[in-house]
Amino acid sequence: MKYILLIDEDPDILNIQQLVLTSFYGGEIIAVSNGSEALERLEAFGEPEVIISDQSILEEAGATFYSQLCEKDLLCPLVICSGDVVFEQHEKKYPNVSAFVRKPFSVESLTYLIKSITTEPTVKPDFLPVKLSILFNFIGRSFDLHLKLSDVNYVKLVKQGEGFSREDCEKLLNKGVTHLHISSKDSLEFLKAYEENLNFMLSARNGVTQEAIVDTIDNLVSIENVSKHLGWTPEVIESAKKSIDTAIRILSKDPSLANILKQKLANPTSGYARHLGLQAYLCCVLSADLAWGGESVQNKLALATLLHDLVVDEKYYDDIKSWNTKAANPKERSPEVIKYRLHPMEASKFIQKLENMPPDIDQILLQHHEKIDGSGFPRGLTTTRISQLATFFIIIEELIDFIGDGMSLESSFADFKTWGDATYSSGVFKKTYLFIRDKI
Ligand SMILES: [Fe+2]
Ligand SMILES: [Fe+2]
Repeated sequence: MKYILLIDEDPDILNIQQLVLTSFYGGEIIAVSNGSEALERLEAFGEPEVIISDQSILEEAGATFYSQLCEKDLLCPLVICSGDVVFEQHEKKYPNVSAFVRKPFSVESLTYLIKSITTEPTVKPDFLPVKLSILFNFIGRSFDLHLKLSDVNYVKLVKQGEGFSREDCEKLLNKGVTHLHISSKDSLEFLKAYEENLNFMLSARNGVTQEAIVDTIDNLVSIENVSKHLGWTPEVIESAKKSIDTAIRILSKDPSLANILKQKLANPTSGYARHLGLQAYLCCVLSADLAWGGESVQNKLALATLLHDLVVDEKYYDDIKSWNTKAANPKERSPEVIKYRLHPMEASKFIQKLENMPPDIDQILLQHHEKIDGSGFPRGLTTTRISQLATFFIIIEELIDFIGDGMSLESSFADFKTWGDATYSSGVFKKTYLFIRDKI
């Protein structure tokens, strides 16, 4: 049988590699998590067309997969995906490796690589099967999800843009459905979105922790008050903390960015630190069980929080409300107001240089001062043009304005609700507001 052997200890990487290959490769795909399982498959199925593996198989001790491969004198190419960039040294040390490629590699490069070295004719399946657990990580999906009834019969189950939540997923699992299907016309777009999400999660896992920054955020008294008032449990707080820590780790890969954050958050009593802390915690805790988007939503909101006003000078925070009012008034044309009005664009420009930033974070940065009725800035967008995540972020910003100095939380939350009921009267804003309202 013709097949490709995939080896990686990370199930997320195996998932995406398998999906990419399924979209065009005509043979079988076998995925395993380590060298010894890979050897078993080799024994059972013979030589594959190509082996694609994580570098861990080169690092195994004893009679390893690699040493056995060398003994067997296999003809198939062995491609190693490595997070390490110093490839030349590896090449000398492991002469039987056909190629070292940078990990994680893109949908295009994996497709190109496999098409160029395998002989099995390519196929174009009408539908791509995707595990349910993968699907609720996509916000504002631009593809339909289909249920397979038989080999030739698929029915549309969830329309593009509709929510697909953890609950929906569980309901299907209970009925014995493990996969939904994406039509071939949407599969490339889906794979690119999946790749973006995955690269983002991978970069989150490998950063360095910046304890000092996390400490500042955690020690803010205002958060303690809000969390007590809303009755957040230690688990809820822990999960938010984790997302904020992850966001800081991602940003701290850029040393200059880590320094800016440290300076800006050095004083936990500053208006800036207070705002960031409240925004980060409220976003993470309140978004925890949003119907759309999975674990990466909290990380994205935490990242957007840390970045959204990074280019704004702290002095604006002494009187941030009046700056926001001025910036939303097109008649205000002083250089300072114009500079402030454009800070969402500056923030967006600023993150262009960071690797693996998903586009939905960029949208939050660009849109965080827009309003439901188009009276926001810098672009005066109306509600249908504001993204789902940005909508969530904007409502939390409003809530923080009501919390103010946090002196009387009871009346702050009551005032916010009265105002919100009257303001968020339709569409995604209303839906998102009601979701948040329910939790405060
Ligand atoms: Fe801002
Ligand atoms: Fe803000």
